[in-house]
Amino acid sequence: MRPLAARPVQPASATTILTVKVPEQQLEKDRADGAAPAKGQAQAASRFAPPSDLEARVDELLKRYPHKRSASLMALHAVQETTGYVSGPAIEWLARKLELQPINLYELVTFYPMFRQEPAGRYQIKVCRTLSCALGGSQALYRHLCARLGLDPARPGLQTTPDGRFSIEWVECLASCGTAPVLMCNDDFFEGVTPERADGLLSGLAAGHGFEP
Ligand code: FES
Repeated sequence: MRPLAARPVQPASATTILTVKVPEQQLEKDRADGAAPAKGQAQAASRFAPPSDLEARVDELLKRYPHKRSASLMALHAVQETTGYVSGPAIEWLARKLELQPINLYELVTFYPMFRQEPAGRYQIKVCRTLSCALGGSQALYRHLCARLGLDPARPGLQTTPDGRFSIEWVECLASCGTAPVLMCNDDFFEGVTPERADGLLSGLAAGHGFEP
């Protein structure tokens, strides 16, 4: 039997440029399979102009992880802290940077309640509505806060005052069920919040000197 002869490998030339035109039909299939960027993804990413400190921060984060994907959560936090929220174009931009599909980041942003997809006020109030807090009076507390802020307690989702200072929204359990009702204002946590204490919080923030529990 004749031995199989190895076919000589043509060395790639540094000057060779291979141009492959992918038919649009194939591109659509690849997009459906997630193997190619969605139509408009590149345009959406280019609509987002990352502040220079954000780009540097994400680049720094990427050095700390063995895989780019592992930096997703921290990079999303960096986006939110820098731009105030995680917009669609920011997700597209970050997905390209992490070599992921945007859906991989949307899954995180929609799962974790600390991420926002729309701009919020300077002070973001999150009121817990889960069972212990509901029994402890969180509905009345929410109505009270909305009345003070001139917002509609029946409106679902995040609401922001016209001056952009306060936002309010319902959230699920904040893991302090024994001290209900509970709310968060930005990164601060408040337990056993009565309407009177909520007034103190709003007055302190409006006056610019924070809140004394
Ligand atoms: S139910 Fe409100 S903190 Fe758990």
